[in-house]
Amino acid sequence: MNQRSQSLFSMAVFPCVLIVSALMVASAQQQRYSNISLGSSLTPLKNSSWLSPSGLYAFGFYNISNGYAVGIYLAGIPENTVVWTANRDDPVFPSNVVLLLTDDGRLILKQEDRESVVLVNPGQSIASASMLDNGNFVLYDSSRRIIWKSFDQPTDTLLPDQRLPPGEEIFSSVSKTNPARGIFRLKMQYDGNLVQYPVETPDTAPYAYYSSGTDGDGNNVSLNLDKNGHLYLFNGSFILSNLTIGRYRTRTIYLMRIDVDGIFRLYYRSLDPQGNWTKEWSPTEDKCAPKGLCGLNGFCIQMDEVAECECLPGFDHVNPGNWSSGCERNFSMEGCKAKDQNVSYEIRSSDNTVWEDANYAILTGTTNEDCRKACLEDCNCDAALFKDGNCRKQRLPLRYGRRLQSNSNIALIKVSTTEPSTQGDLGNSGMEIKKELRLDILIISISLFALAVLILAISGIYVHRNHVGRYKKISKYGNVELIEDVGLRAFTYGELVQATDDFKEELGRGASGTVYKGILTNNGNIVAVKRLEKEMAEGEKEFQTEMKVIGKTYHRNLVRLLGYCLEGSKWLLVYEYMSNGSLADILFNPKNRPCWEERIRIASDIARGILYLHEECETQIIHCDIKPQNILMDEHRCAKISDFGLAKLLKQDQTNTYTGIRGTRGYVAPEWHRKLPVTVKADVYSFGIVLLEITCGRRSVDWSLSEDEAILEEWVYNCYEAKEISKLVGDEEVDERKLERMIKIGIWCIQDEPSLRPSMKKVLLMLEGTVDIPVPPSPTSFLSAI
Ligand SMILES: *[C@@H]1O[C@H](CO)[C@@H](O)[C@H](O)[C@H]1NC(C)=O
Ligand SMILES: *[C@@H]1O[C@H](CO)[C@@H](O)[C@H](O)[C@H]1NC(C)=O
Ligand SMILES: *[C@@H]1O[C@H](CO)[C@@H](O)[C@H](O)[C@H]1NC(C)=O
Ligand SMILES: *[C@@H]1O[C@H](CO)[C@@H](O)[C@H](O)[C@H]1NC(C)=O
Ligand SMILES: *[C@@H]1O[C@H](CO)[C@@H](O)[C@H](O)[C@H]1NC(C)=O
Ligand SMILES: *[C@@H]1O[C@H](CO)[C@@H](O)[C@H](O)[C@H]1NC(C)=O
Ligand SMILES: *[C@@H]1O[C@H](CO)[C@@H](O)[C@H](O)[C@H]1NC(C)=O
Ligand SMILES: *[C@@H]1O[C@H](CO)[C@@H](O)[C@H](O)[C@H]1NC(C)=O
Ligand SMILES: *[C@@H]1O[C@H](CO)[C@@H](O)[C@H](O)[C@H]1NC(C)=O
Ligand SMILES: *[C@@H]1O[C@H](CO)[C@@H](O)[C@H](O)[C@H]1NC(C)=O
Repeated sequence: MNQRSQSLFSMAVFPCVLIVSALMVASAQQQRYSNISLGSSLTPLKNSSWLSPSGLYAFGFYNISNGYAVGIYLAGIPENTVVWTANRDDPVFPSNVVLLLTDDGRLILKQEDRESVVLVNPGQSIASASMLDNGNFVLYDSSRRIIWKSFDQPTDTLLPDQRLPPGEEIFSSVSKTNPARGIFRLKMQYDGNLVQYPVETPDTAPYAYYSSGTDGDGNNVSLNLDKNGHLYLFNGSFILSNLTIGRYRTRTIYLMRIDVDGIFRLYYRSLDPQGNWTKEWSPTEDKCAPKGLCGLNGFCIQMDEVAECECLPGFDHVNPGNWSSGCERNFSMEGCKAKDQNVSYEIRSSDNTVWEDANYAILTGTTNEDCRKACLEDCNCDAALFKDGNCRKQRLPLRYGRRLQSNSNIALIKVSTTEPSTQGDLGNSGMEIKKELRLDILIISISLFALAVLILAISGIYVHRNHVGRYKKISKYGNVELIEDVGLRAFTYGELVQATDDFKEELGRGASGTVYKGILTNNGNIVAVKRLEKEMAEGEKEFQTEMKVIGKTYHRNLVRLLGYCLEGSKWLLVYEYMSNGSLADILFNPKNRPCWEERIRIASDIARGILYLHEECETQIIHCDIKPQNILMDEHRCAKISDFGLAKLLKQDQTNTYTGIRGTRGYVAPEWHRKLPVTVKADVYSFGIVLLEITCGRRSVDWSLSEDEAILEEWVYNCYEAKEISKLVGDEEVDERKLERMIKIGIWCIQDEPSLRPSMKKVLLMLEGTVDIPVPPSPTSFLSAI
């Protein structure tokens, strides 16, 4: 590797490498601990870490911009490379913090003026801890059994001997200096496939940008790394695939990391102080492969060894220092809808540029010129992709854009030709420029088109052999395929009649409609088709709202809307099919009831889904009808929230709305009845009830039980107050501390006074055990006080 690429390389790929000379001095003063006993403590400035016996690894404080984080780093090399970070999403602490292994067996961070933070929560009392020589930090109980280890909670790095088990994923960091969760993930799927996706996408092929191609190899495949840098997929008895074959090197350590740029790489480094990290292997050299690198409306160009993000014509970077923040249009489209004669638009083309196909309309058998015209005349059309006579019209935002070396796509983007300062005056000359431009573009486009046809002819046969929609190995195919139409698909009523065999198999019935099982004839996918009731007929807007809202949400804990049908009075929605029914089916059926640990996981899944609706998606969504019947379970029993039919879109400036009672008895927050403003806290209330149902494994109202047990929320609080919470789970054996935690969270969520209920973000932190939970008041105490 030459000098330039070496330095480029270390700049581009080495996140989290912190050279902390102050820390080195401190660690030189450290004793070597193999047995960390109760009462031990660390502070950022003195006694900052516990070393492993050989001194290679340290657990303790390292400094990051504006504070200190707790984690594991390689103390034996000058860079102090960080390999794990605790409390990853909120890792920064001030210098007066104390890390304490308390006498009662908890690992916490204490601050003078703030609540202490539980750093890791093994669910039972810790008796001692140990920083091992392989980089694993472990906690023991009193019989010296391991009750927690950092190897089970990887952040972005895998060390030798560490494995990524089925169902688990690791996430890239935000930046080289910020270890918080970034925008890419590497997932070891239950189907045996190792796949890279952007965050907040479903685990499906259209979003993947790397796959090991080992799907269908059983449900016990894990990713493993050994001391010699052998990286492989193993199912417990056979090596299914070798990503690298490994090579023994003296005094050398290996590690694998998903880097900030979204690509995972295997590195090695000699333990000599003057050594350096060198890349051994990565699945691709294509830095533009990771989807989402450039944010919305941007596109990625690979130049030499680095990736560059640019904006489409007419767009500027939202934050030029941060590509993933994307680009925004520097003009308004208002004039188009207002039919303002003073504004004009034109179409620019961008060579070899592609993006995710999320079209709202496809015109077939068109020419490039027809496609331009069609987009120009349609105020909804912001851009179009023209390929093989098909014109795919699309609205903003455009995702996963990139420029390829060559490709048969022609990207067409609508831009304004109106000069902002001289609107109106230049109307005519604007038109002339437009015509000239168009001629240029036409010539370029025609030659591009000819080239495209040629390339297509050559590649067509090859592409045809691949199964459409299957995971592709980017190392082989370069990952240039467009995403298979992830936009909503418009179905005809006939198609849906055929798919559902004339609405034969009913899956469920709700207030807004009945759901049927169906099989799509074009690809054999199983779907759930929801037919909306006739009484909804006046709510065309409601239908469109639901469609638009759900169409834009992508989260693993939300059921995906695939398409819709709008024909006369027949309104239908097509969703992905959830093979394990609803949470109500499994929770309230003693035969099916998930075990305690699984129930906790389900509760966190639901909380993540609601958090996304409340805080992370484009438009804030209040669900208004959270209940077990609306939580569906996929094939891996991952919980997904469904039915946004009642969700009300919130405008940015009016967060409080009263819209008449929605929701279901037993789950609706008291403010609905009091005609008070309804906010996201109404969902927190419903979640609280569901959480208590999950915890206790029974319905919120059950008159078959004795009178003092019939109303779950009252019974729970009475038991909690009487310190008899184990009664709530009957004879089921559960971890008492976790049970108390769940109950306390539940009681906080169902406070009558909305402002006392925590936000979903707080709820999730509490569920994860990263914050202490104060003693909750009686849910009705606020009311009785007034
Ligand atoms: C570790 O320390 C604990 C408490 O100080 C002690 O009980 C235990 O025996 C020690 N274990 C080892 C292996 O030294
Ligand atoms: C560092 O910790 C050790 C053991 O916990 C203790 O004996 C020592 O006094 C501490 N040193 C400082 C400077 O706090
Ligand atoms: C680390 O801490 C030292 C001493 O407190 C400080 O001088 C240095 O700037 C810090 N480094 C970073 C990256 O924050
Ligand atoms: C699954 O794989 C792990 C190691 O990869 C192995 O220890 C375990 O026994 C396997 N389980 C089954 C059921 O084969
Ligand atoms: C591992 O894979 C081999 C070969 O595909 C298969 O024969 C074997 O049954 C698998 N083992 C497990 C535990 O799944
Ligand atoms: C993987 O590599 C190991 C040696 O490191 C070898 O024994 C094994 O046969 C290889 N397996 C495959 C599937 O290539
Ligand atoms: C990095 O280390 C490798 C050997 O591990 C060595 O060949 C190379 O010259 C080193 N590069 C630099 C810039 O020190
Ligand atoms: C918008 O950006 C383009 C470059 O992409 C520039 O030519 C044009 O003048 C800008 N328009 C406005 C209104 O800023
Ligand atoms: C870049 O912007 C995105 C979204 O706007 C944000 O989530 C991310 O934290 C930012 N990254 C950095 C390094 O500031
Ligand atoms: C167009 O511009 C002219 C002159 O600036 C102005 O009088 C007219 O109101 C504008 N038309 C519209 C629809 O804005």
